[in-house]
Amino acid sequence: MDTLITAALQAKLQALAPYSNFYVGAAIETAAGKIYAGCNIESSSYGLTCCAERVAIFKALSDGEREFTRLAVAADTEEFCTPCGACRQVLWDYGQNLAIVCVNKHGAVHTIELKKLLPEAFDDHLLKQR
Ligand code: THU
Repeated sequence: MDTLITAALQAKLQALAPYSNFYVGAAIETAAGKIYAGCNIESSSYGLTCCAERVAIFKALSDGEREFTRLAVAADTEEFCTPCGACRQVLWDYGQNLAIVCVNKHGAVHTIELKKLLPEAFDDHLLKQR
């Protein structure tokens, strides 16, 4: 199996989701082929929860990585779980060419471009126009 998918499935096992019981794993691949994985981490103050996708990309960014190719997201759902709106924005800010590889509870895979998940996105090109 694709090592990126394996990393996302492994990360899901670390999910800290005692409030939702919704376990998610994500893994992001750098242009050089390195993989950073993350799981969702919930807080007793629910709004402070961080999704698996942001944990994965924050780990990579904080390690100095800047170029990304794919992000895999795995959840125990029948339908493919795509990144939430907040994660789509953060992923877009740092990886406009990302392919999102969604893995369902059966291990089936569906790949979609981030630019299709976040059309007409807000980003720093608008900040520069003020
Ligand atoms: N969650 C993720 O980690 N990624 C997603 O793509 C969807 C939602 C988490 C946040 C929260 O811990 C739980 O799943 C339920 O929303």
